[in-house]
Amino acid sequence: MATLSAPAADYSRLPKPDPAVFTAPLKRPEHVGEDWLEPAQHVYSADEDATWDALYARQMDLLPGRAASAFLAGTEKLALGRGGVPEFARLSAELGALTGWSVVPVPMLIPDHVFFWHLANRRFPAGNFIRSRENFDYIEEPDVFHDVFGHVPMLTDPVYADYVQEYGRAGWKAMRYNRLKALGALYWYTVEFGLVLEDGGVRAFGAGILSGPAEAVFAVEARSPNRIMLHVDRVMRTDYVIDDLQPSYFVIESFAELYHLTVERDFDAIYRSLNPGFTYANTAVIDVDNVMQRGTLEYHLRGGRGSGAVPV
Ligand SMILES: [Fe+2]
Repeated sequence: MATLSAPAADYSRLPKPDPAVFTAPLKRPEHVGEDWLEPAQHVYSADEDATWDALYARQMDLLPGRAASAFLAGTEKLALGRGGVPEFARLSAELGALTGWSVVPVPMLIPDHVFFWHLANRRFPAGNFIRSRENFDYIEEPDVFHDVFGHVPMLTDPVYADYVQEYGRAGWKAMRYNRLKALGALYWYTVEFGLVLEDGGVRAFGAGILSGPAEAVFAVEARSPNRIMLHVDRVMRTDYVIDDLQPSYFVIESFAELYHLTVERDFDAIYRSLNPGFTYANTAVIDVDNVMQRGTLEYHLRGGRGSGAVPV
């Protein structure tokens, strides 16, 4: 039986988190309700639409041969390159017909339990704003290009779409055990920075890789990073960086494997065995690892972002 999530939880209404559980404090803007949904998607200027088009063209130049075929197929099914920032209503109708998911506009950051609740109901919360020209290459806060271009095409894959919904349902159990950091690491190393075996090599399916030009090349081809086969317990104990390329990536055999590895695991047992915080540094290779490629880590050893180190 699946025990990633709490089986009896009702996801139709927004559950209240236990006040004893720590989640990042966020002040709710006055114009959004308890669901944190924006009343409407932002109306983009011609300049903002042009930013989308330029970002789209740049990534689509880089991604064939580097992105998972499910991702590339998703960009076609949803015609994400038809010009300008996609309208969420149109995207939701098309995505809904494929896998029952929709895309909903939210402010930049939303509380964990609200995020989990939307995923559990097959709603993908997407940021409204688009990066400025000055931040064309890299932003820390996810914008609409990261959220829609990076995440939404993968939701056209039925197995992957089920995995992300189960992940949302899993949030409450993690909160009950106060192990949101561990569950967050699983999201980080799969939904944001995951690699999958394909055509005898690795391809990216994580949105953090797919939406950035440097990481799209680095994650798949560079000699610096470790590429390690995904082991759920290990990943949930592993720290990660939010402001640089990843020193280690985790690789799955298929989306069906990812689904079975997570949804069919006894997460009560995992949470009971986890210490608070992380056990392994993000550069670590440990005894139990099934290492696909051991990285040189030279990019990070030379200082990483801001040091002038070349991401090789
Ligand atoms: Fe993301």
